[in-house]
Amino acid sequence: MSSSDAVVKLTVDGEIGVVTVNSPPVNALSQAVRQGILENINQAVAHEQVKAIVLICDGRTFIAGADITEFGKPPKAPSLQEAQNAIENASKPVIAAIHGTALGGGLEVALCCHYRVAVPSAKCGLPEVKLGLLPGAGGTQRLPRIVGPQKAMEMVTSGQHVGAKQCHAMGLVDELVAEGELLSGAMAFARKVLAENRPLRKVRDSDDKVVAARGKPELFDDFRKAQARKFRGFDAPEFNIRCIEAAVNLPFDEGLKRERELFSQLMQGTQSAAQRYVFFAERQVWKIPDVPEATPQIPITKVGVLGAGTMGGGISMNFASVGIPVTIVETNQAALDRGLATIRRNYENTAKRGGITTEQVEQRMAQLTGTLDLNALADCDLVIEAVFEDMAIKKEVFAKLDGIVKQGAILASNTSYLDINEIASVTKRPEWVIGMHFFSPANVMRLLEVVRGEKTSKTTIATAMGIGKKIGKIAALAGVCHGFIGNRMLRARSLQANAMLLEGAMPWDVDRVIYDFGMPMGPFAMSDLAGLDIGWNKDTTSSSTVREVLCEMDRRGQKTGAGFYDYDDKRVAQPSPVTEKIVREFVAKAGNVAREISQQEILERCLYPMINEAAKILEEGIAIRPSDIDIVYVNGYGWPVYRGGPMFYADTVGLANVVASLKAHAARLGPDFTISPLLERMAAEGKRFQDMK
Ligand code: 3HC
Ligand code: NAI
Repeated sequence: MSSSDAVVKLTVDGEIGVVTVNSPPVNALSQAVRQGILENINQAVAHEQVKAIVLICDGRTFIAGADITEFGKPPKAPSLQEAQNAIENASKPVIAAIHGTALGGGLEVALCCHYRVAVPSAKCGLPEVKLGLLPGAGGTQRLPRIVGPQKAMEMVTSGQHVGAKQCHAMGLVDELVAEGELLSGAMAFARKVLAENRPLRKVRDSDDKVVAARGKPELFDDFRKAQARKFRGFDAPEFNIRCIEAAVNLPFDEGLKRERELFSQLMQGTQSAAQRYVFFAERQVWKIPDVPEATPQIPITKVGVLGAGTMGGGISMNFASVGIPVTIVETNQAALDRGLATIRRNYENTAKRGGITTEQVEQRMAQLTGTLDLNALADCDLVIEAVFEDMAIKKEVFAKLDGIVKQGAILASNTSYLDINEIASVTKRPEWVIGMHFFSPANVMRLLEVVRGEKTSKTTIATAMGIGKKIGKIAALAGVCHGFIGNRMLRARSLQANAMLLEGAMPWDVDRVIYDFGMPMGPFAMSDLAGLDIGWNKDTTSSSTVREVLCEMDRRGQKTGAGFYDYDDKRVAQPSPVTEKIVREFVAKAGNVAREISQQEILERCLYPMINEAAKILEEGIAIRPSDIDIVYVNGYGWPVYRGGPMFYADTVGLANVVASLKAHAARLGPDFTISPLLERMAAEGKRFQDMK
C-alpha cells in the first residue's frame, strides 16, 4: 500500500479499492500524479480483495488537467496515455468520482474509466482550446462517442465547463450522487456495478454516435461557417474540429494518432505558447509585491457612483449584478433618468438573450437608487467618480465627497488619463483615494486598471483589487502617469496612425492591417465607434486635423452615420470619398507627396512604438511586470490572446528587430519620439520581456 505522503494512494474498503489523488492545488497530472495513478491502479487490479476501483481526488477538485507547467519541457515517463491504458484495460471496473472540475486531461482520464459518477456541483470540460491546444489524451476521440460529434465539437471549440446535471443528461456522467457524499456514493455505485455484473464499458468501443455522422461533411462545414467570426485568427478551434472529424471518419486508434499529430503541431506553435503564457499572466496579475495577499481589506457593502453617463451606468451594473447596492448621483433628473433607463435596457437585452431571468432584471434594478443629492453617499464604503474628464470638475467633486463620505471609505476615480495624486490632493484622505479605470462598455469589458497614487494605502489597493475580482474583472495595478498603462500606449499608436495619413495612407489601409493582425478594429474605426467629438470643442476647433474637419462637418462617427467612414443604416462601414478628399488635402497642405506605405510598415509603426512606450512604463515602475501590460491589452483593448499581448509579441518578433525597426523609421516617428533605454539594453543583450524578473 502507498506511503501516507504519496500524491496518489490506494486504500481498500471491503471489495472496493479507492485510489485517491492528492496533489494540490488542482490535482494536475504532473509526473508524480501520472506515476501514482499508474502504480495504484495496477496495485488495485492485482489486489485479491478488490473487485472494483473508485478513482477520486482530495481537495477542491477532481483532476483539473495536464500540468501546464510541464508543457514545453522534455516529457517525463510515464506518459498520460500509459496511466490511461492502465485504467481502461483494467480487468476490474474503474469508476471516476468527480467533484469540482474534471477538465482537460482530467476528463480524459475519467473518460477512460468504465463509469463516471459526480456530485451535482461538479463540472466537466475540455478547455484545451483556451490554451491554444486540443485535448491530446483521447478526449477528441472519446467525447463524441458519448455526446455525439455536434455537442463534442461545441465543447472542444468553446472549452466550456458543463454542469454535472447536463453531463448526466448527455450520458457523460452515469449517476449523480449527493453533494458532500461523493466517496460513499461512488462506492455504492461500484457495488451496484458488481452486483449487477455490469460490463467493463470502454468508451472507445462505442461507435454508434460517430458512425451516424459519417458521410455528413456539412455537419462540420456548417459549424465552421457559423463560428467563423469567433474563431478568426485562432489555429486551435480548426484543429479541434479536424479531430472530431477524425473521430467520425477513422477507426479509434487512427483517430487517436491524428489527434496526437495535431496536438503536437499546436503545442509547438506560437499561439499555444502565447495562450499558456496568458493563463499564468492572468493569475500573476493579482500578486503585488508590496501588498501581500493577507493585507486587510475593508468590506464593500454599499457603493456610490457619480455620473450616470456611458461609464457610470456600466460601472453601477457591475455591482448591482453581484448584489451590492449602488447609489447613483447625477446633476440633473434628465441625465439620471436616461442613465437608469439605459441600465434597464441593457439588463432587459441580456434577459432577452437568455443570459438572466426577468426576475433577475428586477432584482438588479432594485439594487440601484438614483438621486441628485450628493449627501446620499455619506454611508458608502466605496464611491466611484465617473463625471466629465476635466481636472477642475474632478477636484471640485472630490473636495465635496471628502466632506460628505464617512471616514474609512474609498474615493475612486474612473478617469482615463488624469493625475490621481492631484485629485487626491484636494482631500484630507489621500491614502483612501485610488483610480479604478473601467473600460467601455464597463459592464462587459473584463479589464479594470487600478491606479495607485503616491499616498494610496495598501488597504485601499487590496480592497480595490478584491472588489474587482468580486465583480468578475481582471484587475491590473498601474502607477500614475498620463493615460496609465493602456491609454498611454494607445496614444503612441494613435500618433503614428495619424502621421501615416499625412504620408499617404488612408484610414482603412491602417485599420485593415490592425484588423488582420487580430484586433477587433483599427484605430480609425475605433474612433468612429467611440465618437470623434470626444474632447472636441466646437467653439475652439481650428480645422487643424482630419478629425477636427470631420467633426466640423458633423461627421462625428457611427452615431451621426459618418466619421472616417460612411455608415449605412446597419452601421456597416464603407471607405468614404469625403474623408479621402480631406486626407489628400492635408497631405498637400503638409507639403508631402503621398507615398505607398507597405502593410509591414503600417504594422511596425503602429505596434512597435506601443512596445517602446510599454518599456518606458516598465522602466518608470508604472507597471509591475511585462505580463501585467499584456493582461491590460488582451482584456481591455482586444489584443488577440493568441499573440499573447504586446510584450509577448515583442519577444516573438525579437527585441533587437523591434529596436532596429524603430531606428529605421526614426525620421518619421516624430520629434518627441525616443527609444526606451530599457528596450535598447534588453535588445542588445538578447533578452526577452518574459524573462524579466
Ligand atoms: N497545471 C498547472 N497548474 C495549474 C493548472 C494546471 N492544469 N490549473 C491550475 N493551476 C494552478 C494555477 O496556476 C494556480 O496557481 P497559483 O496559485 O500559483 O497562481 C492554482 O493552480 C489555482 O488555480 P486558479 O487560481 O485558477 O484556481 P481556481 O479555483 O480559480 O480555478 C480551475 C481552478 C478551474 C481548475 C482553473 O485553475 C483552470 O481552469 N485550470 C486550467 C484547466 C485546464 O486548462 N486544463 C487543461 C490543461 S491542458 C490538458 O489537460 C492537455 C491534455 O489534453 C493532454
Ligand atoms: P459621459 O459624458 O457619458 O457621462 C458623464 C456624466 O457625469 C454625465 O451624465 C453628467 O451629467 C455627469 N456629471 C457631470 N458632473 C457631475 C457631478 N458633479 N456630479 C454627478 N454627475 C455629474 O462621460 P463618460 O464617457 O461616462 O466618462 C466619464 C468618465 O469616465 C471620464 O472621466 C472618462 O474619461 C472616463 N472614461 C470614459 C470611457 C469611455 O469610453 N467613455 C472609458 C474609461 C473611462
